[in-house]
Amino acid sequence: LNKDVFLKGIEIYRALLPAVANVETDYQVIRVHPENDQQLEYLTNLEHHGNYDFWTDVRRDFVDIMVSPEQAHVFKSQMFLKGMKAETFIPDVQKLMDLQKASPVAEGRAMDWTSYHRLGDAKIHSWLDDLAAANPDTVSTQVVGQSTLGKDLKVIRINTAGSPHKFWIDGGIHAREWISPATVTYIINELVNNYEANQELVDAYDWYILPVHNPDGYEYTFTDDRLWRKTLTDHDSFWGCLGADPNRNWDFHWMDIGASQDKCSEIFAGPEPFSEPCCSAIRDFTTELNADSSVLGYFTYHSYSQLWMSPWGWTDALPPTYDELTRVGVAGMNALTAVHGTDYEFGTSTNVIYAASGASDDWAYGVLGVPFVYTIELRDQGRYGFVLPADQIIPSGEETFAGLKVAALEMLVLP
Ligand code: ARG
Ligand code: ZN
Repeated sequence: LNKDVFLKGIEIYRALLPAVANVETDYQVIRVHPENDQQLEYLTNLEHHGNYDFWTDVRRDFVDIMVSPEQAHVFKSQMFLKGMKAETFIPDVQKLMDLQKASPVAEGRAMDWTSYHRLGDAKIHSWLDDLAAANPDTVSTQVVGQSTLGKDLKVIRINTAGSPHKFWIDGGIHAREWISPATVTYIINELVNNYEANQELVDAYDWYILPVHNPDGYEYTFTDDRLWRKTLTDHDSFWGCLGADPNRNWDFHWMDIGASQDKCSEIFAGPEPFSEPCCSAIRDFTTELNADSSVLGYFTYHSYSQLWMSPWGWTDALPPTYDELTRVGVAGMNALTAVHGTDYEFGTSTNVIYAASGASDDWAYGVLGVPFVYTIELRDQGRYGFVLPADQIIPSGEETFAGLKVAALEMLVLP
């Protein structure tokens, strides 16, 4: 057997291997079903050490984890060994990403909700400025800080009736959750361009809305890595891992639970609280806004899982105003579901998912003192996960806006 023949044989073997040995060729999302505390703990450890990409938080119902073709078999056998059922839930992540890229994009600065949009010159930020220019008496934009890489944190303010009550909304704190900024821009459009139909709601508040909380990460999901979650701050990782989880970086029970000090983990909390410029800028801005305790609502949109969650996320104890949070949250959630029948679940973050501290919601409720704080996990329930097709933006916008509207008006009703 000469060397060339031998190498040729290996080449052929490699080419045929996927078909013959059933080797995976695409990234896939595997859904596992932990049933006891040991299994939960095992998954939590995996999540803290950054080798696998967790698409959902660790919780009892199910956990979605993306694995590379190389990891798939080892991963499945690990789950088997621990006695956990593991099913391939999304077999073809790359294919879905390609599909999503192919959705049509409106020309120039015009905004639409039939595709996902970049930040820059031609889209989200310029559209916010155009709205302000078209409505100079009621709408304005302001840059409230910069990300690590110097991108603007651009907030749009909508103030039609001089209401004393303020309302904060943000999206896009996690980069890959594209449906979040898309839904938040849909909400902005309803408030500004559909004023007649929503006048009672629009007039009821002085609105401050940040569609993209983590602009570095968001742009990176278009240019380099569609599934990036964190910021892009360089924290000098030995392995060259970048970024921190901006929703583990807030100074309230920072690093208590559900967060990692491993710089490669998707839930790396940062070297210290507020190490991430996008978090400290929003802390400063909302603190100033609430100096007179006028902020009534703080809604932060994520994806995915279809959950409407109140604090706390750091403990399973119920927050002091849980009844009020439930009354308003459930009213909003039911209004959301009524639009397209999309199922949601309500509860505290800890009780519907699993404890994770250092998130913005607990800070907004526990430190800032805003009465109505919710983290809302938008569509879907994992069929597409983060790679949600663009034709779901409009239905997501419609239902999410309906939920926001009812919740925001309910907040003004005394119990
Ligand atoms: N999926 C969100 C995250 O991981 C949930 C945050 C819920 N809030 C909380 N305090 N744990 O950031
Ligand atoms: Zn998120």
